[in-house]
Amino acid sequence: MNGQANTPRDDPTPAPITVELRLTVNDATYPVTVDTRETLLDTLRERLGLTGTKKGCDHGQCGACTVLAGGQRVVSCLTLTVGVDDRAITTVEGLARDGVPHPLQQAFVRHDALQCGYCTPGQLCSAVGMLAEAADGRPSAVSEDLTAVPVLDDAEIRERMSGNLCRCGAYPGIVAAIRQVAP
Ligand code: FES
Ligand code: FES
Repeated sequence: MNGQANTPRDDPTPAPITVELRLTVNDATYPVTVDTRETLLDTLRERLGLTGTKKGCDHGQCGACTVLAGGQRVVSCLTLTVGVDDRAITTVEGLARDGVPHPLQQAFVRHDALQCGYCTPGQLCSAVGMLAEAADGRPSAVSEDLTAVPVLDDAEIRERMSGNLCRCGAYPGIVAAIRQVAP
């Protein structure tokens, strides 16, 4: 033990380190300066004003903050913005095309797949990512044949969407909506 062990430091908080990035979100480019510790969720909501993506738990447990990065779903509350500046980000605001809602958005309405709607942006982004994963032949924990293209029955959809919680319990409608859009 040396003589400096109990010497109080003037400022124990390290100074923030910032970086300048060009983020691609929903086909638009955003120059931003972010703290290297900043999450994608906070960048989207607080800097870019894209508040469609919701902050639920902020701990990677509810899926409300799910967006697509390079076409793959990520929980943006656990994703550092500096780590995705080379990947195109899609949020719920980017799912509609030319004013026409995404087929999943239309199916969610048709099947009453939401009540309060707070989880819905994450559910929609997760569903888009899940359909792409299945089309890519990626098995889930309930797939019986790990080499065949998965058939998206209720069990497959429920398993693949299990990271997205809905406090309102709109799960039957969510499954029905995804089944409508699934091939
Ligand atoms: S807010 Fe990100 S998983 Fe809950
Ligand atoms: S619709 Fe309310 S939490 Fe899902």
